[in-house]
Amino acid sequence: MTPQAIENPLREGIRLEAAAEPCVMVIFGASGDLTRRKLMPALYNLTREQRLSSAFAVIGVARREKSDEGFREEMRQALAEFSRSRIDQNVWESFAKKLYYLVGDFSNPDIYPKLKEALARCDLKHGTLANCIYYLSTPPEAYQTIIEGLGHLGLQRPGLDGKGWKRIVIEKPFGYDLASARELNAKVAAVFEESQVYRIDHYLGKETVQNISVFRFANGMFEPVWNHKYIDHVQITAAEEVNVGSRGGYYDRSGALRDMIQNHMLQVFALVAMEPPVAFDADTVRDEKQKVFRAIRQIEPSEVANYMVRAQYAAGSVAGKKIAGYLQEPDVNSESTTETYAAIKFFVDNWRWSGVPFYIRTGKAMARRITEVVIEFKRPPQILFEEHAAGHIDPNLLVLRIQPDEGISIKSDVKLPGQRIRIRPVTMDFRYGSSFGVEIAEAYERLILDCMLGDSTLFTRRDGLEKTWEFVGKILEGWRQQNLKRLPQYEAGTWGPVEAQEMMGRDGRRWRRN
Ligand code: BG6
Repeated sequence: MTPQAIENPLREGIRLEAAAEPCVMVIFGASGDLTRRKLMPALYNLTREQRLSSAFAVIGVARREKSDEGFREEMRQALAEFSRSRIDQNVWESFAKKLYYLVGDFSNPDIYPKLKEALARCDLKHGTLANCIYYLSTPPEAYQTIIEGLGHLGLQRPGLDGKGWKRIVIEKPFGYDLASARELNAKVAAVFEESQVYRIDHYLGKETVQNISVFRFANGMFEPVWNHKYIDHVQITAAEEVNVGSRGGYYDRSGALRDMIQNHMLQVFALVAMEPPVAFDADTVRDEKQKVFRAIRQIEPSEVANYMVRAQYAAGSVAGKKIAGYLQEPDVNSESTTETYAAIKFFVDNWRWSGVPFYIRTGKAMARRITEVVIEFKRPPQILFEEHAAGHIDPNLLVLRIQPDEGISIKSDVKLPGQRIRIRPVTMDFRYGSSFGVEIAEAYERLILDCMLGDSTLFTRRDGLEKTWEFVGKILEGWRQQNLKRLPQYEAGTWGPVEAQEMMGRDGRRWRRN
């Protein structure tokens, strides 16, 4: 079925946007944080903007005892707290009627026949045509059990008349290391076809992350210089102000490398570094991403000290608020060596990027929340203006700001007004907010809608996921072999540990924000 198109008046005129096909979305883990903070607000806002089919329903599944009414009331509160738009009473009333709740323990096989009945009731009542999305928003330990439970009853297959698609969305963390990621992939593949599987990485749904490809491939002026001849290095930063807070239990088993780099940051890297795809369809784009993942030079376990820095935040203050050090956080082992900061340097062994280092860093409890990609160009020969530029000319920078204050800036050198030649850097800035005057949709809105439309371009494919784990796995092994008893510390509210500055310093470079 081709997606129906609806008219959606935007500021700059009427634009045609795709609207979803009829379907039921089953959310496993419906009483969790993700459902409250992200999934419900996304579904509500899609409804408000008429992007969902009117033949739509949600079945929330979770262990806690609750009625449909109770679930609706909780979701209303969640929207009041987390929706990007205010609740419109009319929209809410029609949306609420489509929310159902099923009590059950995922490990109890009884739940799946009950789910089957609930799906049949929804089809009858809402006309959802047996189309269904299973959304796994539970702790990862439950994934395999749920997949097996669905498979056991054939809930992954179309109905008896051959109609009705079934898709599964799987949240991160997808695996804990390469072996567990492979094992999970194998379990998924035993029940679902790869074309039914949507491994979600919410960074790929961010408007500004999607814009990386448009910026690169829709403008003739950047692609010719997007290579080792003109680019000195690339920095990708995802700094967060938030500390680990109440997530200590999860985070202490994960750490920055698994939590941010294996998925979000390597996905952003792939969009920056991949070759132009010949088409923008799911497999062509993901083929190109896979090629660039394969070109990453592996960091062998014995080399990690040269290419990586890891650290933990110590007590300090972030945005004027005092916070405790990581080791004092609730549910964190006081002797933990889990990193809350990681910086990594690596190379991509292909023609385009030969010899160009990529630096990636991420951390919690840092000075400011900022996610950005910085392309630093090579300096021009310093012959003409050396004496006028106080010994050096700043390199040109292209900065893709992913969040907050989404936009793009280009830093170049200009002459200061006056008779003498004096050179200063200036910045040309494009800001989404002021240029388009529209609120940027949440990543989950885009991704849920894409899943309903059957478009998996912005989701991770099995081979890509395993390739990123392979790279990260060697680093994890190197860390295991290092066997550090205590990690370097950085004061909360700063730009990270001095060791990360030193790593850059050894290459004669520096992080854009220090
Ligand atoms: C999640 C991580 O995947 O991404 C969190 O588990 C992190 O630790 C979050 O805070 C960052 O997402 P965003 O959209 O706020 O940059």
